[in-house]
Amino acid sequence: MHSPVKLRVDVEGRAAPAEPGAVTVAWRAGIDLNPLDVTNPDDVRWLQTLVWPEQHERLQRLNTAIALAQADPPRIVRGDLNARLGEVAAQAPSYATLVVFHTAVLDYVLIRIEPRSWSRSNSSTPIWIAQEGLGVLPGVAARLRQQPRRTPADTVVALDHHPVAFSALHGGWLRWLDAPHRRP
Ligand SMILES: C[S@@+](CC[C@H](N)C(=O)[O-])C[C@H]1O[C@@H](n2cnc3c(N)ncnc32)[C@H](O)[C@@H]1O
Repeated sequence: MHSPVKLRVDVEGRAAPAEPGAVTVAWRAGIDLNPLDVTNPDDVRWLQTLVWPEQHERLQRLNTAIALAQADPPRIVRGDLNARLGEVAAQAPSYATLVVFHTAVLDYVLIRIEPRSWSRSNSSTPIWIAQEGLGVLPGVAARLRQQPRRTPADTVVALDHHPVAFSALHGGWLRWLDAPHRRP
């Protein structure tokens, strides 16, 4: 599908851990303690303020994404993800595979989410994709056999608790780990 929002990523390493082909998103929802509303001009200005001054490409991408989201505002639930994830996941259609994705959030959360809080009995096994700082998920860190080459601010991308790549916190590059985990 063509989108006005383009994400440019320099990819290093071989073989993505999966070959998803064309993915159809059946449903989606987000959870945040303090969701920002793209239809509220104050919230839009706040989001724009958070982009560092010299990052013109990010600002342009943000503005394009805001315009897209204003045309079809996303479903965002206000609350603590630990309290609300199970209930939000239960709203996803049972014919679809549930994918839980988070980036740069668990560092702020005292209780770590656990797959059992959002597994559903009537559908396929959920997929958990995490992009968090190096030490944020101890189970993922314990499985790392490589160290990042860049800065401590780099993140680890994990698939179902298994590290599969290092990546830049704000996007831009991704380095697949050797022999990344594959889903059985
Ligand atoms: C660094 S921002 C990352 C936002 C987004 N994931 C991204 O990568 O652009 C962290 C976000 O986590 C949210 N947050 C912090 N604690 C949370 C919690 N317990 N439950 C849900 N959201 C939380 C904050 O409101 C904030 O929007």
